[in-house]
Amino acid sequence: MFEILQTKANTHSRRIRMDESRPTASKKLAHPSARGPLIFADTAVIEDIKPLYDAGIVSGVTTNPSLIKKAGATNQAQAIKIAKDLIAMTCPNPTLLELTELTEEAMVAQAIEFAGWGDNVVIKVPVGGYKAVDDCFDAYTGLKVIKRLWEKDIRCAATLVFNSTQALWAANAGACFVAPFIGRLGDYLYSNDHPERKSGNSLYWIEDHKNSNGDQNVSNSEYVASGGERKDIGPRLIQEISTIFTNYDIHTQVLAASFRNFSQITECLLAGADILTVPSNLLEQVCEHPLTSKGMATFYQDSKVFI
Ligand code: G3P
Repeated sequence: MFEILQTKANTHSRRIRMDESRPTASKKLAHPSARGPLIFADTAVIEDIKPLYDAGIVSGVTTNPSLIKKAGATNQAQAIKIAKDLIAMTCPNPTLLELTELTEEAMVAQAIEFAGWGDNVVIKVPVGGYKAVDDCFDAYTGLKVIKRLWEKDIRCAATLVFNSTQALWAANAGACFVAPFIGRLGDYLYSNDHPERKSGNSLYWIEDHKNSNGDQNVSNSEYVASGGERKDIGPRLIQEISTIFTNYDIHTQVLAASFRNFSQITECLLAGADILTVPSNLLEQVCEHPLTSKGMATFYQDSKVFI
């Protein structure tokens, strides 16, 4: 099982609370989770986010070009409309928009444009990988863009982070958030460990999909419970980054991303993530535990005695 290091005492001291995240002005009752980790919705589908947002479960939204496409955009005008609708819905909480330009000047110009759409816009900048698109590109483009945006007081999130060094580079460049993709990292290693199995969706292989009651067990499987660096790679990365940032009083927020299941959510919280961005299908399912449903059904039946 993922080992919890006892090094988190100072985590709170470096964590920057986003003032807007838990509105408590004019409240006598202080919010009990005012310094707790935040949950963002990792989707661009506004209908999915709205109920979660209204219930106080999420306090921000992360997007990327794939999520905006998945939300239905087939052209630039539609993509911009989706982005602006999200910004308006989440305001004053953050909406993270990813740059689509690939060269430094174009990226800075696009970031300025996006930032002009609302004070709650945070610009997502891929930390590297530019050579994968064009061999002539500069590998440092993302970091240079982050530095220039910090100089302009535009908040940035470094995205596509897969190791703690990338995270540190991004923080030093001026990123307010770093987004390690823990699910993709786990998928990659899992598919190498188990090439015979379908890749793409599980660090936590579910051997027995349903129990005799028809409930699905999505907790830790033997695969992750047996421990080991490779198996715990996603939460371990969060722990590394969180510890490094704590050790050096770096205030960049660790935004854990790319979740596949509930176990990863728990483990990233134990590892010291500041924010989790969770796909809406997982966010919804968290409320629906079979024992919660069973208890609710019993209470409902017994409550008839009051009527
Ligand atoms: O926020 C990052 C996220 O959208 C990537 O998730 O599921 O495509 O690995 P995924």
